[in-house]
Amino acid sequence: MKGYSIRNYEAEDYEAVIKIWQETGMGRPERGDDKDTIERCLKTGGKLLILVDDINNIIAGTSWMTCDGRRLYLHHFGIAPEYQGKGLSGYLLEESLKYVKETGYQVKLEVHSSNSVAIKLYEKYGFSYLGDYKVFIIRNTDDVN
Ligand SMILES: CC(C)(COP(=O)(O)OP(=O)(O)OC[C@H]1O[C@@H](n2cnc3c(N)ncnc32)[C@H](O)[C@@H]1OP(=O)(O)O)[C@@H](O)C(=O)NCCC(=O)NCCS
Repeated sequence: MKGYSIRNYEAEDYEAVIKIWQETGMGRPERGDDKDTIERCLKTGGKLLILVDDINNIIAGTSWMTCDGRRLYLHHFGIAPEYQGKGLSGYLLEESLKYVKETGYQVKLEVHSSNSVAIKLYEKYGFSYLGDYKVFIIRNTDDVN
């Protein structure tokens, strides 16, 4: 897309990436979205794509895919607020799906049922609704009996 490019994450991007995740409500270091976790996931078949505004040299979006050896999970997919509404999400999703295709893994994602813009986008690019699942998590292993 003219004026924009997509490249792999580099360690120096971390602060800018965290800023976007905070601004878009996608993640916080306290939730495990820290530098070490990113590096660890990249070593196990994951990919963190960075959308760059080439003219101003500003990071405009991210797409993080992690691999559990069985599937890829797409998350932290988002466009910085000042870059939203310019059609950049399709460009970033297309590049993400190129990686998916390259690996041959299935790809799964979670999206809040109220996020109609994201849902429409994912459906447009071939994702289908898996069913009325509830999503559970244990955040703190101290809570395990
Ligand atoms: C969801 C998100 C990635 C979409 O990116 P975006 O840059 O705002 O959207 P785009 O400009 O690329 O538009 C994508 C499509 O959504 C439509 N759209 C964009 N904003 C819209 C709005 N406010 N209302 C209705 N439709 C909208 C566009 O018309 C376009 O549709 P089309 O493909 O039929 O032309 C972005 O809003 C975002 O980062 N949100 C916060 C993080 C998030 O929710 N991520 C998904 C978590 S699973």
